Amino acid sequence: MAKQTKRQKPKSRAAAKKSARKVVKLVSAKKANGNGKSSNLPKPSSKPYGQAGRALDGLRILDFTHVQSGPTCTQLLAYMGADVIKVERPGAGDITRGQLRDVPNADSLYFTMLNGSKRSITIDSKHPKGMDILNRLIKTCDVLVENFAPGALDRMGLTWDYIHKHNPRMIVASVKGFGPGPYEDCKVYENVAQCAGGSASTTGFREGPPLVTGAQIGDSGTGLHLALGIMSALYQRNRTGRGQKVLCAMQDGVLNLARVKLRDQQRIAKGPLTEYSQHGEGVPFGMAVPRAGNDSGGGQPGWILKCKGWETDPDAYSYFITQAPVWGAICDVIGKPEWKTDPDYATPKARLPRLKHIFATIEQWTMSKTKFEVMDICNAVDIPVGPILSMKEIAEDESLRATGTVVEVDHPTRGKYLTVGNPIKLSDSPADVRRSPLLGEHTEEILTKVLGYNAAELNEIKASGAITAPKKEEKAA
Ligand code: COA
Repeated sequence: MAKQTKRQKPKSRAAAKKSARKVVKLVSAKKANGNGKSSNLPKPSSKPYGQAGRALDGLRILDFTHVQSGPTCTQLLAYMGADVIKVERPGAGDITRGQLRDVPNADSLYFTMLNGSKRSITIDSKHPKGMDILNRLIKTCDVLVENFAPGALDRMGLTWDYIHKHNPRMIVASVKGFGPGPYEDCKVYENVAQCAGGSASTTGFREGPPLVTGAQIGDSGTGLHLALGIMSALYQRNRTGRGQKVLCAMQDGVLNLARVKLRDQQRIAKGPLTEYSQHGEGVPFGMAVPRAGNDSGGGQPGWILKCKGWETDPDAYSYFITQAPVWGAICDVIGKPEWKTDPDYATPKARLPRLKHIFATIEQWTMSKTKFEVMDICNAVDIPVGPILSMKEIAEDESLRATGTVVEVDHPTRGKYLTVGNPIKLSDSPADVRRSPLLGEHTEEILTKVLGYNAAELNEIKASGAITAPKKEEKAA
């Protein structure tokens, strides 16, 4: 290397400061990288909360979903800003539009609460013109989401090979009841999935039958898994340029949510599950994980306890966790300070065989307070408890409205209704929670503005019967 011969010009004070700042910047970039190489880190947004655009702006979804599992997924993507185009059968639409109706001739809450922020186009996929329209949609969308019974999409002619040939970037995401195996061809609804995924056998009381839960872990739970699968496939598409298939089986989704029970299944072979109240009651375990009532699924014992008013209010209960680090506070609150030093109660291990008695004693205290008083008193000293909230209380909860988790929207035929907004909060991107579309409300708009059909072509499509309900006499025939 040549020696430096010329003396460098002395820098001005300001220039020296500037270059020092540059060095500091580069050093922190190197640190952030962790690999010693410098990089230009993206600048953080300077826009205020919720003003940096919708997260999924520019993403277009061909939504072939119906009932609950698939619609949960696409509704969430729509809330995040994706343009979700829901394809429905002319004249009929998603079957849930008419199920559990509370307002005559208006879309049911079943439908409206699962299809917010979407656009609806009616297309008969079995009509040749309908297939032409679908072909255009396939070319213009990023993701196709469906939850038909196994084989239905293929029977429409929309096989993976066909779709991939027309749009190699397209991601095809499906919910099915079961993955490949003996049951792969079966139709599945929520409770079947709860039963097949290990939830029902581990829910309920030991003395009673298996129970399904109110939370729709089979349908909505699998829809959420599917949304994550789609996001992962989109991320990978950035590198590969190719779309891929995404499959979420409802049995798998439920099992994923019930994984602590598969944990316990493996522990049971090595000895009793000491945190289950069954152990304290001296009831031996069988070969499989039993139903554990309201026992907590983790290492900190818990139970549901009656609160003031339980005799008349079915929801006057609180979940109470005897978390070990706050045992002393629990003893003080319930008026049993002597339990802090009593060897039968002082350690978590000593308490395990006495849980039933311990919770009965705590319940004597909770029964003297409302569930909200229990919440206030216990949380003030860090004892984890939770009121059993009724759906009425949740619907009226001001704080859930304030955060956009519960949203009131207006609908042209049914009026105002409550829906669950976006439970996932992003600091830059507002959630886009709007009412559900009427059947075929956006058919013309999508045909002309998204797919580019001209007026003459639109008339031809209308006359063909591909986007309109079959006439009554045709139906009867
Ligand atoms: N134009 C013409 N035909 C259409 C159409 C359209 N726009 N949209 C749907 N169809 C047809 C399909 O082609 C299919 O017809 P085919 O069976 O003659 O090929 C039919 O409508 C719908 O099929 P399917 O999915 O079998 O509906 P279903 O009401 O009989 O079954 C489920 C409902 C939910 C049991 C079933 O779809 C399923 O098991 N899905 C996968 C698991 C799932 O998501 N379950 C939870 C639902 S919350």
